[in-house]
Parts: sequence; C-alpha cells; structure tokens
Amino acid sequence: MCGIVGYIGHREAYPVVLKGLKRLEYRGYDSAGVAIYDGKNIKLSKTKGKVVDLETRVKEEISDVGTLAIGHTRWATHGEPNDVNSHPHYSNSGELVIIHNGIIENYAPLKQELINRGYEFKSDTDTEVLVNLIEDVKKNENVKLGKAVQVALNQVVGAYAIAVFDKNKPDEIVVARLGSPLVIGVGEDEFFIASDASPFIEYTNNAIYLEDEEMAIVRRGKKVKVRKIKDDSLVDPYVQELQLNLEQIEKGGYDHFMLKEIYEQPRAILDTFRGRMLANEGIIRMAGIDDNIEKFLNANRILIVACGTSWHAGLVAEYVFENLTRIPVEVEYASEFRYRNPVITEKDVVIAISQSGETADTMAAIKLAKSKGAFVFGVCNVVGSSISRETHAGAYTHAGPEIGVASTKAFTTQITVLTLIALKLAQKKGTISTSEFHQYLSEMDAIPAKVEKTLTSDNHVKTIANIYKDATNFLYLGRGYNFPVALEGALKLKEISYIHAEGYPAAEMKHGPIALIDEQMPVVVIATRKGHYDKVVSNIQEIKSRKGKIIAVVMQGDKTIKNIADYVIEIPETLELLTPLLTTIPLQLLSYYIAVMRDCNVDQPRNLAKSVTVE
Ligand code: AGP
Ligand code: GLU
Repeated sequence: MCGIVGYIGHREAYPVVLKGLKRLEYRGYDSAGVAIYDGKNIKLSKTKGKVVDLETRVKEEISDVGTLAIGHTRWATHGEPNDVNSHPHYSNSGELVIIHNGIIENYAPLKQELINRGYEFKSDTDTEVLVNLIEDVKKNENVKLGKAVQVALNQVVGAYAIAVFDKNKPDEIVVARLGSPLVIGVGEDEFFIASDASPFIEYTNNAIYLEDEEMAIVRRGKKVKVRKIKDDSLVDPYVQELQLNLEQIEKGGYDHFMLKEIYEQPRAILDTFRGRMLANEGIIRMAGIDDNIEKFLNANRILIVACGTSWHAGLVAEYVFENLTRIPVEVEYASEFRYRNPVITEKDVVIAISQSGETADTMAAIKLAKSKGAFVFGVCNVVGSSISRETHAGAYTHAGPEIGVASTKAFTTQITVLTLIALKLAQKKGTISTSEFHQYLSEMDAIPAKVEKTLTSDNHVKTIANIYKDATNFLYLGRGYNFPVALEGALKLKEISYIHAEGYPAAEMKHGPIALIDEQMPVVVIATRKGHYDKVVSNIQEIKSRKGKIIAVVMQGDKTIKNIADYVIEIPETLELLTPLLTTIPLQLLSYYIAVMRDCNVDQPRNLAKSVTVE
C-alpha cells in the first residue's frame, strides 16, 4: 500500500504535496518522490527511504516552484525499493508523468509489446509500463490524455489508483481507480488528490470518493468530470462534506499514534455505540441490520472473513454470536477463503471485517461470496472505503482514523459493533431474555469508563515491560472469549517489538507448548474470574512449577492469582462476554512499552503497511 497526493490550483504545490505525503506515510514507506510542473518543464525528484529523505533530495536537486504537483510514498510490489523504481515515473518522451498505488497484473505482456514498439524502460516497475502504455495510446490514436488513460486502462488487469499529467497540458491532472483508494478534495479554485482525506482536510472538507472503475479529469477552474473507465460514460460526482478534522490525525501530545489510539478507545467505543444503543430505552438500532434482519435471522450460518487483528475480532464474534443468537458462525482467514473453493450458498450471511476497508484478500473474499449469492455485510472503519462500498450493507466502527500500523482501537470498536449486532439478533430471536438484554446494554454503556479505568494500569504495565523487554519469546494464554484476545496480544507484541510470541487456548498448554516453559519464558495469562477460572488457575500452577514467569490479567480484587503469578494487571469487573474489551488493553500497553524500550519504530514497524492492498 502506498500514498498518492496531488495538487492543482493557485498555491505553491510542493509544500501541499510534501505535507500530504507525511500524513500518508503510514500507508507505505519504502520510497518517496514528487514531480512538479514549474510553468515550462516537469521537475522530478525521488528516492528510496522516507519522505524526509525526499525533502533533502528536492532541496539538492530541483526548484520546487509550481502550482501543479504529484507525490508518492511507495510500498514496492514490482521492482525492489530503490531510487529508479520509486515514483513518479516519466513516459519515454518525458512528456507524461505518473504515480500509482496497486499492481498491474498483466504488466509483463504489455511491457513486451511496448518494447517491440521501441519503448525503453528504466525501472522494473509495473507502473512505468502503464505510463508508457498511456503514451502509446495517446500518440497512436492521437487523443488527449484523458481518453488515452481510459483506453489504456481497459487493457490493464489489476489494481490501481493513479494520477498522471502531461507537461503539454499543465492545466489538468487525470486520475483513475480500481481496487485502490482515491479521493479528490474540492477546494476554492483548487483541487487535491490523495489516497485518503488527511492530506487536504486542512484546506477543504469537500470530497469526491472515486468508485472502482471510475476516472476523473481535474482541471483548473472547471468542475471535476468523472467518467466510467469501461465505456467513458459520464458520472455525476457526489461531493460529500467530511467530518474528519485535522487534530484527529495529529498525535495529540502522545509520543506515537499507537499510544494515542490506545487512549482513544473509551471515546472510540462510545462513538461506535452512540446513537445505535439506547441503554435506558433498551433499544439497538442499526440501519444496515434493521433493513436486512430477516437475512440474518433466516441464515443457515454466518461466515466471518477478515485478516490479522480483524480476524481476531471475528473470532471473538464467533463466541459472542453463537452464545447469544445460537446461529452457527465460522471464521475464515480471507486469504485462505478466497482460494479454497469454499461452499457458499444464498442462505449464508458473510460479515467482512476490515479497519482500512482496502485489504485485498478481504475484498476478494467478499466478491467471491457475492458471486455465490451470499448476503455480505461489512464492518469497516474508513468511510467511503472500497470494502464499505462493495458490501450489500454494513456498519462503520467510528474509531476515527487509525494511523498506527498496529490495530488497537479498530479491534475494540469492531468487537463493539459485532456485539451490538449479536445482541440485536438475540433480542429479535428471543434467545436471550429481556432482562439479560437490558443487562448487556447497561454494561456496554459502562464499558468506556471501565476502559478508562483499565488504562490507569499504564505505569504498572510499563514497569512489567521494562523487566521483560529483552525476552526472545512470549506465550499468551486465554480461554473462551479471551482465547482470541491472547492471539491478538501475541500479534501486537510480534508486529511492533519483533519478539516472537504465540497465543494459545490455555488448555492447549499440555498438548505441546508446555515443553517451551522455562525461567526465560514470560507467559501472559488472561485469567478473569469469568469463564473457566479454576482451570486457568491450574494452568498457571503448571507453568509456575516449571519456573515460567507469569504475567496475569485478572479481575479487580483477585487474591488467588496474586499469590501465584509474578505480576498481575487488574481490570474492572464486567460481564464475561464483554471482558475482551478490557483484557486487550493491558496487552496493547505491554507491547507498546516493550517496543518503545527496544527502540522499535512503533507506528511504522519494519516490513508492515497499515493496509495490505496487494496480495
Ligand atoms: C494488526 O495490528 C495489523 N495492522 C494487521 O494484522 C491488520 O489487522 C490486517 O492487515 C487487516 O487489516 P484491515 O483490518 O484493515 O483489513
Ligand atoms: N506496483 C507499484 C510499484 O511496485 C506500486 C506499488 C504501491 O502501491 O506503492 O511501484
């Protein structure tokens, strides 16, 4: 996944694009580049590395004057991360320049055909093929850039969000998208192009989210023209007014976006159920569910497809849904589901969970399920994201932008939405009593304050992190609702501190993992008094007897485990079904502090991108 940014208007373009790239860097960051039209020529500078490296390059290499520019942060798919493969890319004539997010799957035959026609290539990227294909169409069919882009993209298989301009026609930028996000910021006599709204929100909150297979010509002083790539037909663009504001994407005083987002969880969970759950009136209203409730109630089963942390939220949902609604639930890794020729029928309801709403594997699983007639419901965090517009219906988590690559508030708000859905279905089906329903609603209402309370264990967790920051392996154990939380805790630690960690159902210890236990092995055990407590206590004793180091997450006031474990972290009392919303918090903090103490790049861990839009 990468970031694309463009500007055309009355301002100096480079400062706008540069700041925009910094806002988008989390989306992909192995290299960066910019192309500026200075009134006569295109000035282009690009480099492997971070946006700050690009800033240095630009100062050394080019004049940054001009009111038209495009910029890119790259997460390589074709061609290793280096200067030449960085974007933007010129066409052979030097007249066109392009930036691209995605993969041109049929770039090889297209490249061969262009080589046969005398084109030369400097880079190993698929993107350079695309810009020369556009040039080839433009020259051979003697058409303008917009038409050339439309014709060229009809020869392309793959995913793209592109911005391209012609130095001979510097009053417009042509953009197009299929499978990768692209949004146009509509200002006063100026336009912004980006992968999401954060680069231009300080200038305008009017935005056009391009749909898949749409392109647009963004021209100085004109209204944006949106067309269908397939048949060049005009589309009436929907300009929406965004509520996103700048401080939401600033760090707000925290050292890292991840810590800010951990601390945002009380409000994020509140925002997610606000207006949907009226605890006093005993009402849950969610348009996406209300309008399709029969599909859920008559479903043979519910299939959940997701990746990573979202998959862990799906696993929590499996326990919640089956316990409350008695509807069979199966949770699938989207990347496996899409290829294993699964049995899917019209009687299936599929729930696709994705924070970014752009994950390629999850999108492919959705399309497969839709092709088999299943009803697909999306749970996404990014308004206007591709997955949110591909599913038949959906519910947004209102977590706000999650900038840190490691998902935190996305996880707890996904669980919140999924729990509300399960409660609504259970109430409708009568599989829980009215008093149980009210009890769940009032306890959910109390969760934001209980998350706030759980966060007060911050310093205590930091102390524990300092003791175990040099461990080479961790085990995470949980039972029932907290088995998925153990998996999530292990993933958090792995992805930001690079320490190997595994999550297991606590009872699984005796089937192998207990062989790993020695005094070097910290074992994090979620041992809330709800759910198989006595069995977890005996698991802890088994580990203790083998000199394992125990870090236990317990219910407030627990005395038993306090006498066995090396360290305990308390969470407030709550209903068993809601414990994941609290037990995950100390595990997020533990992984955060260990990563910081190990000088890891917490917000942009190595090899990872915030949204995996390529396979
Ligand atoms: C989790 O911390 C990671 N960021 C990653 O596993 C992520 O959850 C996964 O890539 C799915 O992303 P999505 O929710 O945006 O689809
Ligand atoms: N496939 C293109 C490349 O490898 C774009 C990758 C991206 O989305 O950043 O350069």
